[in-house]
Amino acid sequence: MKGIVLAGGSGTRLHPLTIPVSKQLLPVGDKPMIYYPISTLMVAGIRDILVITRPEDAPMFQTLLGDGSRLGLNITYGTQDEPRGIAEAVIIGADHIGDDSCALVLGDNVFHGTRFGRMLQDEAAGLDGCTLFGYRVHDPERYGVGVTDESGRLIAIEEKPREPRSNLAITGLYLYDNEVVDIAKNIQPSARGELEITDVNRVYLERGRARLIDLGRGFAWLDTGTPESLLQAGQYVRTLEERQGVRIACLEELALRMGFIDADTCHRLGAEMSGSGYGRYIMSIARELAA
Ligand code: TTP
Repeated sequence: MKGIVLAGGSGTRLHPLTIPVSKQLLPVGDKPMIYYPISTLMVAGIRDILVITRPEDAPMFQTLLGDGSRLGLNITYGTQDEPRGIAEAVIIGADHIGDDSCALVLGDNVFHGTRFGRMLQDEAAGLDGCTLFGYRVHDPERYGVGVTDESGRLIAIEEKPREPRSNLAITGLYLYDNEVVDIAKNIQPSARGELEITDVNRVYLERGRARLIDLGRGFAWLDTGTPESLLQAGQYVRTLEERQGVRIACLEELALRMGFIDADTCHRLGAEMSGSGYGRYIMSIARELAA
């Protein structure tokens, strides 16, 4: 399975923060926002990752992530010159996907919960059509929401419903089989001129090949799109990290735990950042796992 992180968009709700810099490079806790969606792909076992950005932001993402080889990943880059919709990511990424399946994650989506990696790996292994992930929210009218039958099969999607039939918001992580490329190429832009991911998901739904997994209440799916939610997401991350002495979305640690790099390499990556708590954490994890 190939991974795509869509990290374009205009970030208007965060102006002026996002005038000079991409939203997905802003800090959430002690690391750039894009670390979180990349960590989501990594725990799913995905190593081939396409990062799609606005053209003007690409150099900064490349400075941050390079070609990914330091983390045992293969990171490549694509650009979206206008925010023409989330589904365009699949078209931009068509060559990257090739004849494989793909996991698309939005660059501003923070997921955190136990056994997430195992769940994603199982879903990826048994993928038939598409798998979406739902999260119960108190304000479903702001989101695309899904209605499922008892087996988890998606039976309806409602986009920003005035009277929602469910409070299960569809999150920004989507697993698709290879048909997604054809489907995305054949949908029509919406009234606002965007290729809507909901329209892609509706095609799978109509074919009876869409699943929606409820992430459950022990799980965190955090918003980072407004100044308040960005700050809250950072506070959530730091609160857990300080209390438990662990780090969320530490890519070097994940690379080691997933077997993408060895402990010596991990330690060296930490040592390069030993001026920060993040770097020292990596060094301590590398020592612990090498022992
Ligand atoms: P949004 O939060 O809907 O949009 P935005 O990030 O541009 O922010 P704002 O509403 O404040 O203007 O986008 C969700 C995610 O998808 C975000 O990571 C940006 C990304 N995105 C793109 O990269 N390209 C697109 O065409 C769209 C619609 C979104």
